[in-house]
Amino acid sequence: MDVIRIRGGKRLHGVVPISGAKNAALPVLCATLLSDGESLLRNVPRLRDIETTAALLRFLGRNVEVDTPLVRVSGNGEPRPEAPYELVKQMRASIMVLGPLVARYGRAKVSLPGGCQIGTRPVDQHLKGLEALGATIRISRGYIVAEAPSRLRGNEIVFDLPTVTGTENLMMAAALAKGKSTLVNCAHEPEVEELALVLNKMGARVNGAGTDVIQIEGADELAPFDHAIVSDRIEAGTYMVAVAAAGGDVLLENAPLEHLEVLAVKLRAAGVEISREGTAVRVRRDKPLRPVDVTTAPHPGFPTDMQAQFMVLMCLAEGTSRIVETIFENRFMHVPELGRMGALIDVDGHTAHVHGGRPLSGAKVMATDLRASASLVIAGLVTAEGETDVQRVYHLDRGYDHMERKLAAIGADTQRIKGDEHIKGDEA
Ligand code: EPU
Repeated sequence: MDVIRIRGGKRLHGVVPISGAKNAALPVLCATLLSDGESLLRNVPRLRDIETTAALLRFLGRNVEVDTPLVRVSGNGEPRPEAPYELVKQMRASIMVLGPLVARYGRAKVSLPGGCQIGTRPVDQHLKGLEALGATIRISRGYIVAEAPSRLRGNEIVFDLPTVTGTENLMMAAALAKGKSTLVNCAHEPEVEELALVLNKMGARVNGAGTDVIQIEGADELAPFDHAIVSDRIEAGTYMVAVAAAGGDVLLENAPLEHLEVLAVKLRAAGVEISREGTAVRVRRDKPLRPVDVTTAPHPGFPTDMQAQFMVLMCLAEGTSRIVETIFENRFMHVPELGRMGALIDVDGHTAHVHGGRPLSGAKVMATDLRASASLVIAGLVTAEGETDVQRVYHLDRGYDHMERKLAAIGADTQRIKGDEHIKGDEA
């Protein structure tokens, strides 16, 4: 397995192009199931999760050509409406084929995603919503079997809590249901708005995306689409934190600052300069960092997907900061790895106290999930001595388009070591 090797201590200067958003591209790829004909997705990032979704769509009977940033999906007629365990276990977002398949073909069999490193992550809200639209649901041998032989019917769906992929799954299902649906207590994330934009291009009538209540007038038929995916706010946020941590002056091209307001406020409070320059965002930091408290929350609050990276930044600020994780119950897996690099962080339940200002040193560390991997790469950029080997890079590759190359292009000493090369000379 590949390793990312980082030698710290370099300031960052230059330009980083921000890729299309993973979490917008995934539901939009699933939405291609709602119509026949050829859909075209532009600005798609080069990521492992995109390949996994392409493999899933192919399994379902679609033709998928991935030539990132362009992806073409086509196909006519009835697919095999089944998402197997082997694909779903690689990527929980596969659950988003459930809504489109049952809405369009009256039947779907999708492997029930298990827990993952960051939490138990149930899908009860997805299933409850589909039942409200008239589907019968049963769990059989690890699979969700959903049936609605005589078409889904529009209804009111009240989510017990805002769920991003749950909202997206139900929006896609309601777009082909008979009559009007009202989704209440919806997730507000920009990726939900992006999906609404695409569904409306397909001929659905979706209103209110980005607010608590989304109204959807179901259509009898939807058309294929041509759509350029919005820039990735979490990739942009990750580079903002990387520059803040390493110091320097970097321009992030096509960074959606309007979707990162709370992060920008927190970074400015920590002493980082952030300004908009046309469609780019300029990030500068040359003064010492200050400690800042953050609590994760659904959008527009501080994103859970930025918590691990921000924690590394706080390791560099003289003083104590408090980081509270409210979305996932087990999203502090990076803490022991950062401890191996010299960080001092106490965890008490969902709260981490970061005692910053201690020098970090290079170490071999293990990525446990996507955003934790990114945090370890950032920690590697700021070590005073030694080199950092981030292992299990497949987590990083799920959501970052060649992070080591983008960082190297702005002056970081980062390289990917292929396969088992890094094990040579290793005492372990
Ligand atoms: N939840 C339930 N029941 C449900 C669905 C969710 O209890 O049926 C709970 C979850 O366990 C969690 C909370 O609701 O405690 C919010 O989870 P949500 O459903 O919003 O998360 P998700 O849709 O599975 C998406 C992103 C995640 C991101 C979260 C939160 C995609 C493909 N994934 O996941 O992205 O962390 O929203 O913003 O959009 C990542 O990119 O690294 C990543 C994990």
